[in-house]
Amino acid sequence: MIDIDGKTTVLGLIGDPVEHTLSPLIHNAVAEVDGNNTAYLPFHVYGEGLKQAIDGACALGIKGLNVTVPHKKNVMQYLDEIDALAEGIGAVNTVVFNDNGSKGYNTDALGFMRELAEAGISVENRKVIVVGAGGAANAVIHALLSANVKEILLFNRSVEKAVSVFGEYEKIKIYPLSGWRDVLVDKYPCIQCTSVGLAPNADLSPIEDAGFFEHVESVVDLIYRPAETKFMRLAREHGAEVHNGLPMLLYQAVESYQLFMNKKVSDEAVDEARKRLAEAVWQK
Ligand code: ATR
Repeated sequence: MIDIDGKTTVLGLIGDPVEHTLSPLIHNAVAEVDGNNTAYLPFHVYGEGLKQAIDGACALGIKGLNVTVPHKKNVMQYLDEIDALAEGIGAVNTVVFNDNGSKGYNTDALGFMRELAEAGISVENRKVIVVGAGGAANAVIHALLSANVKEILLFNRSVEKAVSVFGEYEKIKIYPLSGWRDVLVDKYPCIQCTSVGLAPNADLSPIEDAGFFEHVESVVDLIYRPAETKFMRLAREHGAEVHNGLPMLLYQAVESYQLFMNKKVSDEAVDEARKRLAEAVWQK
């Protein structure tokens, strides 16, 4: 347990809603193992209170905030500085306050890259399949572009919606979900970024055709509940290595904590946070 005293550094999360957040569990586990005097709290902030929340956090000496749905874009206008990756993504999930003011970052992209590296999935100069084009896909796509992929084969239910966001990128080719038949010739790493298959709708998958999964070499599914989605199972049954989204969740928090504290989180702290996270997500 954290002993809160006059020197405790306050960290937190702003979003709407925040009741089900797992971020306090991760951040407080890391603090405990690494012996840092920090406390991480959820703050339920409505859209109309966003500017006041940022100004208030700064005035209160809060060291850092994570930002979640629906504020990741809107918060940017209230910050003094935005990191280049977050600017490119057009979304901030981490705000650090210091003497120079506030700076916004996006650790969703960093967390995703760390999961890819840990899974041993190399994307440099590869064609990569991305399924989905919403907010989660946005961070993944920018991470992949910054990792120098050769091309992103983007499959989305609404082509129009995907084109409106990603139509200008030379390296991104956009297709409907059924479009794989005309495009896939090889085997590719594949990132599943839709919400389809999320518990309690675990019997659903955005793509079900066996022919598609014959072209899938490995999968990262951003969903972590259930631990294996139907999409992952279908890919695994066709010989792919499959990974759920829990490591990305863990690592985006770890990367945020490192930015808040300006120091590395130990491997022991990461392991302990991973253990507690897995218990909270899968054993309750
Ligand atoms: P998130 O922030 O979690 O990415 P989102 O921005 O609402 O959430 O995006 C959800 C993604 O899941 C989108 O790619 C969406 O497809 P559309 O852009 O066509 O809406 C996809 N999605 C949601 N429900 C779907 C369904 N039933 N079938 C296929 N795709 C679906």
